[in-house]
Amino acid sequence: MKSRLCEKLGIEFPLFAFSHCRNVVVEVSKAGGFGVLGAVGLAPENLEQELKWIDENIDGKPYGIDLLIPSRMDHKNENSQTSDDLKALIPKEYYNFVDNILEAHDLETGDLWSGKYGIDYTHNMREAGANKLLEVAFRHPITLFVNALGVPPKSVVEKCRDKNILVGALTGAREHAVKHVAAGVDILVVSGAEAGGHCGEISTMVVVPDVIDSVKSNQDIFILAAGGIATGGQMAACMAMGAAGVWCGSVWLTTPEAETTPTVKKKMLEANARNTVRSRSRTGKPTRQLQSAWTDAWASPNALKPMEMPLQGVLARPAMDKIDRKASAGHEGAAALSTYYVGQAVGLMNEEKSVKTIVYEFMEDYVEAVDRLSKTLK
Ligand SMILES: Cc1cc2nc3c(=O)[nH]c(=O)nc-3n(C[C@H](O)[C@H](O)[C@H](O)COP(=O)(O)O)c2cc1C
Repeated sequence: MKSRLCEKLGIEFPLFAFSHCRNVVVEVSKAGGFGVLGAVGLAPENLEQELKWIDENIDGKPYGIDLLIPSRMDHKNENSQTSDDLKALIPKEYYNFVDNILEAHDLETGDLWSGKYGIDYTHNMREAGANKLLEVAFRHPITLFVNALGVPPKSVVEKCRDKNILVGALTGAREHAVKHVAAGVDILVVSGAEAGGHCGEISTMVVVPDVIDSVKSNQDIFILAAGGIATGGQMAACMAMGAAGVWCGSVWLTTPEAETTPTVKKKMLEANARNTVRSRSRTGKPTRQLQSAWTDAWASPNALKPMEMPLQGVLARPAMDKIDRKASAGHEGAAALSTYYVGQAVGLMNEEKSVKTIVYEFMEDYVEAVDRLSKTLK
């Protein structure tokens, strides 16, 4: 494809894949798109291993990494605060509430808070922790760094500039775009409410043109549309609105390469577009995910109000980990509770396909869509 962004990044097709799974990143970049590894949950030594593996398997194709350094989070600047300090801040009634949810689904909770389940990665969401991950990433040939949930810190933008790495930021509204551009961001990943994971309230079809309008005087900014996109026709629609490409997170989750557990993958393949909810029950900020007995419990009239980030995540992660492990071992109650981030595009993900097949289908579908559109002109 002829495009300024493709030329700048050395890619054939401006389909960007967000994934926590290194295999997805590699397969997308090798097929002509651009893979971005979500690294917030990794310790620096694990990130080193993942990036080394990517370098060995990606055939020299470009890729990037993504972190999550929120602008607003309780205890954001308390670098010396440990995981145990955070756990101690969670009121007892919250632990009891989660115990009750699991026990109502026949899961033992005796070992739930023993440290055996779930990793607390709050430190990676603070600038100091994120910098450690970036130090690792800078030793590898990444060409894009993307930040979620806020404006990337100035020091990070400057380091990326020095190393010729483009900077992107997740953008859910016009006002975010203005702040990102002022901070020196090159690529706005404009994500609608349909998206999996953390998401805003405005639909992709509205937020993308609104953000494009907000930066129209700055020709150097690239816009990637995100949220609900699972086909090349949707990609063509976004590019018709002025996006330079698209950024997808959900569509990879039902591939054989993905990190999803068999239970979650089956639920996703069977789900329709109505089967996701926007819930604060996992991180404290709204995330779109599969509706399950877990999200239902937090939405019930007697539920506690989810805490803010990061405490809600510190509370939820051990429970989600135990649920996933037990569901994988065939536990019925755990299967009912199990959920994972996914967007409304889950309704379009009805068949397990390889990552490569998905990228090639995007390309074919894009060409057909452009052809269809061009026939509308006399
Ligand atoms: C499983 C999953 C985990 C996600 N985790 C992150 C994350 O750590 N950082 C981030 O920038 N975005 C994250 N996202 C959001 C994606 O970057 C992307 O914006 C979103 O998936 C796009 O919408 P879609 O899900 O409809 O494709 C996640 C999305 C999913 C589905």
